[in-house]
Amino acid sequence: MAGLLEKIEEMAGQAPAKVKRSDTLDSLEEIRLEYLGRKGLLTSILHGLKDAPADQRPLIGKQANLLKNKLSGLIDQRRRELEQQRSRRELDSGRIDVTLPGSRPWTGSIHPLNQVLERINEIFFGMGFALAEGPEIEDEFHNFDALNTPEDHPARAEQDTMYLEGGMLLRSHTSPVQIRHMQANRPPVRVIAPGRVFRRDTPDATHSPVFHQVEGLYVDENVTFGDLRYTLEQFAAQMFGAGASLRFRPSFFPFTEPSAEVDISCIFCRGKGCRVCKQVGWIELLGCGMVDPNVFDSVGYDSERYTGFAFGMGIDRICMTFNGVNDIRLFLESDVAFLSQF
Ligand code: DAH
Repeated sequence: MAGLLEKIEEMAGQAPAKVKRSDTLDSLEEIRLEYLGRKGLLTSILHGLKDAPADQRPLIGKQANLLKNKLSGLIDQRRRELEQQRSRRELDSGRIDVTLPGSRPWTGSIHPLNQVLERINEIFFGMGFALAEGPEIEDEFHNFDALNTPEDHPARAEQDTMYLEGGMLLRSHTSPVQIRHMQANRPPVRVIAPGRVFRRDTPDATHSPVFHQVEGLYVDENVTFGDLRYTLEQFAAQMFGAGASLRFRPSFFPFTEPSAEVDISCIFCRGKGCRVCKQVGWIELLGCGMVDPNVFDSVGYDSERYTGFAFGMGIDRICMTFNGVNDIRLFLESDVAFLSQF
């Protein structure tokens, strides 16, 4: 059986060169299978050893094993080379310039008015107020009559309020929500009602026919002007910081008696006078007062037993002041360049 030794020698002459020439991982694997696979050339020699003459077996076995070890070493080495080449190619083809600016994913943001609104809601929720809502299309009863607004009040005029067909109108303030809430609930009531309101205003930097208010209403036995004042001061401290002070000026609204307009010390100059507050040190914040007994009568509340306070604030102006926005129309224009700053 000298044939086996010659075969091994022949393989030893050819196989290493084949391994070196292989240029893909697939072709290298084919070579491995050809020699070392379960039915490979070298494997079958080792399997056939038992048929070889006893005196040659040790030599054949030794040579076959030497070749087997040498070949698998060479194949492993070649595999590592080819793998390295492959990953270098992959890196080259997918090369990225890490100094280029990344592409920013588009994310939405909360509308600046809603940011202010959410903040206001949170503060009043914390003081035990609940949320109330009413329709934007109202009737005269809820928007005016029940709010003790006289027939000849200028706010009722066509040039101030937008009327619809059938005696309906677009609510000119959020105060009608007070009426609807009291009609549907018995005292005590403690609600805030944010929403859109509509007035026939020619749009300019500080006027918009659509703007936003937050209404507040608190009715119970023994509610006083002191409660109103305390509530608004707590609100101002949380909304604008502990240093913010409020100024109450006597005023008039048909639905409150007495009524007041409330200013806040300018949050930028703390009352010293600056460009934002036009050097007066105060910024108008809201209207408020004690609910007029006539309003209680119109919703069937006992005005002898109950008292209450109400307030209404425009949030567009607050939001403008807060954020240094100089045109109220920007809030309604859905201009992404503007909105994405918030
Ligand atoms: N409704 C008033 C307005 O639109 C604001 C207002 C003032 C609301 C006094 C109130 C209030 O509840 O008590 O100008």
